[in-house]
Amino acid sequence: MVHLSLAALASSALLVSAGPVKRASSVAASDAGVSVSDVYPPTGAVANPTLFPDETQVGYPGPTPTGVEPFAVQTAASYPTHTDIYPLVVPAASDAKDAKSFDISKYWGNLSPQYSVNPAQYGLANASPAVPDKCEVVQAHLYFRHGARYPTTGAPPSTFAGKVQNATQAAGGFTASGPLAFLNDWTYKLGAELLTPFGRKQNFDFGVASRQLYGKLLNNFTEAGTIPVMRTQSQDRMVKTMLNFVAGFFGVPEYQDQVNIEIELEARGFNLSGAPYEICTNSNNAYGSVGSTAATAFTKPYYEKAAERLNKHLSGNLTLVATDINAMLQLCSYETDALGYSSFCPLFTEDEFRVYEQAYDIQFAGNNGFQSPVSAAQGKAYLEELISRLNHSLITEWDSATNATQDGNEETFPLNQSLYADAAHEVSIMDALTALNLTALTGDTAFPPVDKLSTDHVYGASRIVPFGTQFQLQVLECQPSVPTKQIRMIVNDAVVPLSYPGCKPDPNGLCAYDTVLAGLIQRRDEIDFDHACFGNYTLPEYGSIHSGLAPSA
Ligand SMILES: *[C@@H]1O[C@H](CO)[C@@H](O)[C@H](O)[C@H]1NC(C)=O
Ligand SMILES: *[C@@H]1O[C@H](CO)[C@@H](O)[C@H](O)[C@H]1NC(C)=O
Ligand SMILES: *[C@@H]1O[C@H](CO)[C@@H](O)[C@H](O)[C@H]1NC(C)=O
Ligand SMILES: *[C@@H]1O[C@H](CO)[C@@H](O)[C@H](O)[C@H]1NC(C)=O
Ligand SMILES: *[C@@H]1O[C@H](CO)[C@@H](O)[C@H](O)[C@H]1NC(C)=O
Ligand SMILES: *[C@@H]1O[C@H](CO)[C@@H](O)[C@H](O)[C@H]1NC(C)=O
Ligand SMILES: *[C@@H]1O[C@H](CO)[C@@H](O)[C@H](O)[C@H]1NC(C)=O
Ligand SMILES: *[C@@H]1O[C@H](CO)[C@@H](O)[C@H](O)[C@H]1NC(C)=O
Ligand SMILES: *[C@@H]1O[C@H](CO)[C@@H](O)[C@H](O)[C@H]1NC(C)=O
Repeated sequence: MVHLSLAALASSALLVSAGPVKRASSVAASDAGVSVSDVYPPTGAVANPTLFPDETQVGYPGPTPTGVEPFAVQTAASYPTHTDIYPLVVPAASDAKDAKSFDISKYWGNLSPQYSVNPAQYGLANASPAVPDKCEVVQAHLYFRHGARYPTTGAPPSTFAGKVQNATQAAGGFTASGPLAFLNDWTYKLGAELLTPFGRKQNFDFGVASRQLYGKLLNNFTEAGTIPVMRTQSQDRMVKTMLNFVAGFFGVPEYQDQVNIEIELEARGFNLSGAPYEICTNSNNAYGSVGSTAATAFTKPYYEKAAERLNKHLSGNLTLVATDINAMLQLCSYETDALGYSSFCPLFTEDEFRVYEQAYDIQFAGNNGFQSPVSAAQGKAYLEELISRLNHSLITEWDSATNATQDGNEETFPLNQSLYADAAHEVSIMDALTALNLTALTGDTAFPPVDKLSTDHVYGASRIVPFGTQFQLQVLECQPSVPTKQIRMIVNDAVVPLSYPGCKPDPNGLCAYDTVLAGLIQRRDEIDFDHACFGNYTLPEYGSIHSGLAPSA
C-alpha cells in the first residue's frame, strides 16, 4: 500500500471509473476507458476429487530420500544475483537506443520489479551477501514486500480511465493518432489490490531462493523438535504473499504442515507492525505526506511539457494535463506488472522516466524515509520486535504499533528462531529501515532534490521499496575476531554499512552484535511514538529533517 500517493493529493476524490465494469468479451470500439474484467473460475465448476483423487489417495509416490539442506549463502563460490524479470516484456523509452541501454523498469519507484542492486550503491563495492571468510551464518531475519499487485483502490490509473471514458461519451468524443492511436480502443483492464501472476512468482521465487541460501538453518528447528512461525497481514495479497513464499520455501503441498503462519489483523485502529499507519494518526494526514506534496510539485513542469507534446496527437474532447501524465506512467508500470506489456511505456523519454523515479524517491524519503516526521515512529514496532528477537527477551513496554496480544508471549512471538520471515507493505519496510537508522541508504547527499533532475542522489525508491523488496539481517559467528558474533544488513542484495555508535568501517558491512543491539536500543529510546503519531507539531518542509523523527514543537 502507498497511502497519500501523488494522485491522491492531486484529486482527493476516490473515483473509480465512470461506468459499470464490463465483461471483457462484450466491449465495443466506442468503449475507450471502460473498466473490463474477466471471471475465472466459472460459478459452480469445481475440481472433482472422486474422478481425480489426489496423490495421497493414489499412493505409489516412488522413492523419496532427502539430501542435505542447501546453504548457498555459506557454500557457493559467489552469491546468486537477480537480474531478470521474466516473463515481463519491457519496451525502450521513446528516445532510447534500445531497451537494454536504458531499462525503464528500474525507474518505476515502488512499482519496479525487485532486482539485485549494485553492491557499490552504498559504498561497499566489494561486499557480497555471501558469507565472508572465517564467518558462519547462524541466524537470518528476512523482511520482504508482496510482489507486484494491481493499483490500490482509487489510484491514478482508474481516474485516468474515467476521464477517457467521459471524453468518449462527451460531445464530439475524441480521436487519438500517432503513438497515442492505441487509446482509441484502450480499455481499463486492471483490478485492484490483488497480487498479479508475476507478483506471485516474485514471492515464490524468493521462497525458493531463501531455501537455497539458508535451508541449513532449518536443522536448528529439527533439533529442537519445532517448526517456525512466519508472519504476514490479513489483506488478501499479504496472505497470498506469504503462501507463495512458503510454497517456494517448503514446497507444495509441504508448506501446509511445516510452518505456522501468523496473520496480523490489518484494519484502521489496530496495532500491527506490518501496517503501523493503521494506528499512527499523523501518518494519514499532512505529516504523513510531506514527500508526496514535494513530489507532485517537482513533477509538474516536466509532466506539463510531456502533456503538451502528447496533446498534439489528440483531437476532440480529451486534453491531457500533468496528473494524466503521472497516471499514464503508472499505467506503463501497472499494465506491464499485471498484463506483461503496456502501450503506455513507449510514449515517454528516458528523462521522463528519470523524473517519474525521482518523484518516488522524494515521496518515499519524505513519507517513510529520513525526511519524514512519522517514519521512525511507525518503524519503531518492527525495531522493538527485532530488539526483542536479538535480545531473546519479550517486549515489556507497549509504546509503538506493536501488538501485545501477538508479541506478548513466546508461542506466537518466538524468541529463539534461527530463521525469521516477515512479509509487509513497502511503506512499513521503509519505515522500519528508517527506525533501524540505515542512514547509508540516503548517502551523503541526504535527500533527493526537488529543484532539479538529479542523477547522483543515492536514495532510490526502486532500489529500496520495489515489488518483492528484500531486507536481510544476518547474524554471523566470525573467527578469530573478538567479539565473535557479528551482524550485517542487506537491502536487495546490496550490503549496507552500519552507523551505530561504535561500529567501525568494515568492507563486509560487519559490526559486533552487542554494538548493533546497543545502537538499536539507543535508537528506540530516541523515537517518541506518541508525539510523532498523535502530537501537534510544526509541519516540516521536505528536506528540513534528516532523522525520521518529528520536530519537538
Ligand atoms: C466522469 O464523469 C462523471 C459523471 O459526470 C464524473 O462524476 C467524474 O468525476 C468524471 N471523471 C473524471 C475523471 O473526470
Ligand atoms: C467536451 O464535452 C463537454 C461536455 O459534454 C462540452 O461542454 C464541451 O464543449 C466539449 N468540448 C469539445 C472540444 O468538444
Ligand atoms: C524455542 O523456545 C520454545 C519455548 O521455550 C520451545 O518450545 C522451542 O522448541 C524452541 N525452539 C527452538 C527452535 O529452539
Ligand atoms: C492485536 O492482534 C489481535 C489478533 O489479530 C487482535 O485481535 C487485537 O485487536 C490486536 N490488538 C490491538 C490493540 O490492535
Ligand atoms: C535484554 O535482556 C535482558 C536479560 O533478559 C533484560 O534484562 C533486558 O531488559 C533486555 N533489554 C531489552 C532492551 O529488552
Ligand atoms: C496499541 O498501541 C498503543 C499505541 O498506539 C499502545 O499504547 C497500546 O498499549 C497498544 N495496545 C496493545 C494491546 O498492543
Ligand atoms: C537455534 O538457533 C537459535 C538462534 O540462533 C539459538 O539460540 C539456539 O540455541 C539454537 N538451537 C539449537 C537447538 O541449535
Ligand atoms: C545513526 O546514524 C548516524 C550516522 O548517520 C549516527 O551519527 C548516529 O549515531 C546513529 N544513531 C544510532 C542510535 O544508531
Ligand atoms: C495544532 O496547533 C496549531 C498551532 O498551535 C493550532 O492552530 C491547531 O488548531 C492545532 N491542531 C490540532 C489538531 O490540535
